[in-house]
Amino acid sequence: MSKGSLTITDNRTGKQYELQIEDDAIRTSDLRQIKVKPDDFGLMGYDPAFMNTASCKSKVTFIDGDRGILRYRGYPIEQLAEESSYLEVAYLLMRGELPKKEELVDWEYNIMHHTFVHENVKKFMDGFHYDAHPMGMFISTMAALSTFYPAAKNIFDKESRQLQTYRLIGKVATIAAFAYRHSMGLPYAYPDDDLSYAGNFLNMLFKTTEQKYVPNATLERALDILFILHADHEQNCSTNAMRSVGSSHVDPFSALAAAAAALYGPLHGGANEAVLKMLKEIGSKEKIPVFIEDVKEGKAEKRLMGFGHRVYKNYDPRAKIIKKLADDVFEVTGKNPLLDIALELERIALEDDYFVSRKLYPNVDFYSGLIYQSIGFPVDVFPVLFAIGRTAGWIAQWEEMLLDNEQKIARPRQIYLGYNKREYVPIVRR
Ligand code: CMC
Repeated sequence: MSKGSLTITDNRTGKQYELQIEDDAIRTSDLRQIKVKPDDFGLMGYDPAFMNTASCKSKVTFIDGDRGILRYRGYPIEQLAEESSYLEVAYLLMRGELPKKEELVDWEYNIMHHTFVHENVKKFMDGFHYDAHPMGMFISTMAALSTFYPAAKNIFDKESRQLQTYRLIGKVATIAAFAYRHSMGLPYAYPDDDLSYAGNFLNMLFKTTEQKYVPNATLERALDILFILHADHEQNCSTNAMRSVGSSHVDPFSALAAAAAALYGPLHGGANEAVLKMLKEIGSKEKIPVFIEDVKEGKAEKRLMGFGHRVYKNYDPRAKIIKKLADDVFEVTGKNPLLDIALELERIALEDDYFVSRKLYPNVDFYSGLIYQSIGFPVDVFPVLFAIGRTAGWIAQWEEMLLDNEQKIARPRQIYLGYNKREYVPIVRR
């Protein structure tokens, strides 16, 4: 821990204050002592969108955005993607250490034995309109699960948290698959816990009349790697939602539904869907320069989807892994015709001063959609796939928040700029 202090002079009063610096941060509540009059509220920090405010101390995920580094519990994402499995990574995120063999077997067993959902879940999923967005179905169904497990409210009971963790990681894949099957008008396919986590997911998605579904090993591994790459990303919008909603001590199913809702937006987990739509809209390599110009001029609020990141000011390390992974997948599925447009778009953007000067590089969503589409997913299922992977991170961060003595219910301050007191005017006199 690095320690030091910061001296502030308030030029309004000439007074000096010494604030402690810990881990390269000051506590903004220390600013409250800075006042002009004794009954002033005291100085606040103003930081819309949390551009420079740490909301927690965390030991889960490290990102160095300038150097393009991402580590879970200290392990580089590249090594985890190469050597590990999604369930092993989920264990690592939750428990802080890689599991021993018997610990992993037990963890996998427990998660795979919680993949089934109550039959009533199927019934209310049937109530969704035939063209309901799978992410809308996913969010609502996750929230509804809290009604099936009322004991999940016992969030300070370690055993209950453990059980809900198995259920959440087990059931998100089932609900995601059911949302897909519903939107395709197909009967739901039940989990097969003989298969791996990703293999079972493919089974629930694509099983038709065969007795036993056998996943393609390359696609199964590719999907597992994609889950690993999406498993956590420190204090992003949806994780912040998970922590913030969870800080009211609601059950984890409700908090996770809120996190998934945050993920749905096109600036976050909905970006993979938006990338595919954008590539389709561009349609051919020849049209890229015009599209780039439109983006630069901000025409119709166009953005180069899948580019840019709040934290990465360098190539997103996940995008590098996904770009390589795409080759393996395309060997099985045939090349996605949109790949050439994506590669050319990246080449042109990375040579263009607009993107270079703003340090806008491809992010995780730029190439992931091409893989998903080639595996056979409709575009609107993409954000749901992101949510499956991110579930492990959401739960790890939620638990860390609950066990952190410094955390309280999340409640930002505001700077009020509205009217002062005024008298009510009856409607006849307005
Ligand atoms: N295309 C064109 N211009 C961009 C883009 C983009 N994709 N991203 C940022 N800019 C410009 C922006 O207009 C601004 O320019 P100026 O300084 O002239 O006003 C500058 O770059 C800084 O952008 P910002 O919006 O202030 O940056 P931010 O940190 O608030 O936003 C972002 C980060 C990811 C929301 C944004 O880069 C974006 O909208 N990207 C496209 C959507 C996307 O791919 N999202 C997925 C993010 S990765 C997965 C995840 O974790 O969710």
